[in-house]
Amino acid sequence: MTDDQAQTGRSGLSRRSLLFGGAAAGAGAAIALAADRTGALPQSRQAELDAVGLNGERTVPFHGVHQAGIDTPIAAQASFVALDLLPSTNADALGRMMRLLTDDAARLTTGEGALADTEPELASVPAALTVTFGFGPELVRRAGGATAVPSWLAPLPAFGIDALEDAWNGGDLLMVVSADDAVTVAHAVRMLLKDSRAFATVRWRQDGFRRAYGSEASGTTMRNLFGQIDGTTNPEPGTPEFDRVVWSSDRWLTGGTSMVIRRTRLDLDTWDEVDPVARGFSVGRRLHDGAPLTGSRESDEPDFEAVNAAGLTVISPVSHIARARPVEDHEVIFRRSYNYDLAPSGESVSESGLIFASYQADVARQFTPIQARLAEVDLLNTWTTPIGSAVFAIPPGCSPGGFIGDTLLA
Ligand code: HEM
Repeated sequence: MTDDQAQTGRSGLSRRSLLFGGAAAGAGAAIALAADRTGALPQSRQAELDAVGLNGERTVPFHGVHQAGIDTPIAAQASFVALDLLPSTNADALGRMMRLLTDDAARLTTGEGALADTEPELASVPAALTVTFGFGPELVRRAGGATAVPSWLAPLPAFGIDALEDAWNGGDLLMVVSADDAVTVAHAVRMLLKDSRAFATVRWRQDGFRRAYGSEASGTTMRNLFGQIDGTTNPEPGTPEFDRVVWSSDRWLTGGTSMVIRRTRLDLDTWDEVDPVARGFSVGRRLHDGAPLTGSRESDEPDFEAVNAAGLTVISPVSHIARARPVEDHEVIFRRSYNYDLAPSGESVSESGLIFASYQADVARQFTPIQARLAEVDLLNTWTTPIGSAVFAIPPGCSPGGFIGDTLLA
């Protein structure tokens, strides 16, 4: 699926008009300041905004070679939901479950209610909804036997920085439900869970967010709750590099990938004690514009050899980017993370973090060496603590009439 197709909604808007729509929305905000206190826009301005369509009407095609929600534009809201299979859910039941959930997802992503939808009105605003399914090792074993389980589909090795809480670990079935509207996500999650309840129970749910659609120009790299620009050095969807990094060619998983989810607490209280220079030093990039400490723009290539007057490298060898850089060519991942922010407890004013999520064809070859290096030394570890960890195989997409997981279950 091309980026353009992914961006083209039910209303038939092109990527270009959506981009223009974003700009128009920004301009609209400025005009609204001048509007009367009811917030009403001048009629001509309202007509202009109506012409570019509503955010809520946008759809992302569900069917395709790859599942949507990986190389398609990232949405503002996401719920990551992991389920545990009931003991009675055997291979036949798994086939029934995935047919049902695929049908729900295919309908909901077009703005139709799921079959027997109890609140179809809530489904009518798809807002670029995507549903991405993932399989844990136990599901793959029940479906296809031990030989079907890729060698990397297992809990990650234990790392010294981890303080994992079982409440956020593992899972047999993953559903990542994302959209540019929180009500859409809530409704889709509820429909999918209603239809999965004969087969599985909820193990954990992690809700994440980024900036709202239209708040920033499309393509702006996200900021995490440390204020860092996070996601600069990432393969670009639609490029040969992306295809090589992300898509698997391993048997039933061909056209699929893997996903690592690391729930990571960000200690904002102690981060508050650090000045902007030290904050930039810990990552190797400036906070305000994301440029490497040796450059002036976010897109500049970091120079890890450059030294300062004292003869020390400008980018510390123990900064996050120096440690996360690939040592071997194949150590590249595609990051697609979300922020979380919950009620604090005790003296703290925040309980915040990152739902770190990455896609790669092979976890052991691509992800684990990076994580092992970061666990060994990384200045950023001073303020970050992984509290949850899970690995899933993400099956390929399916065609209309097929279902997600059919290459394993059919
Ligand atoms: C949850 C805590 C983390 C935070 C706050 C964080 C933040 C950042 C920031 C601000 C950058 C620089 C901008 C960019 O290129 O995106 C970065 C780069 C990167 N991070 Fe992280 N990161 C975290 C965890 C991780 C983990 C767990 C991994 C993988 C194991 C990882 C892998 C990378 C990679 C590969 C880069 C690009 C390095 C390069 O320049 O080549 N990060 N991260």
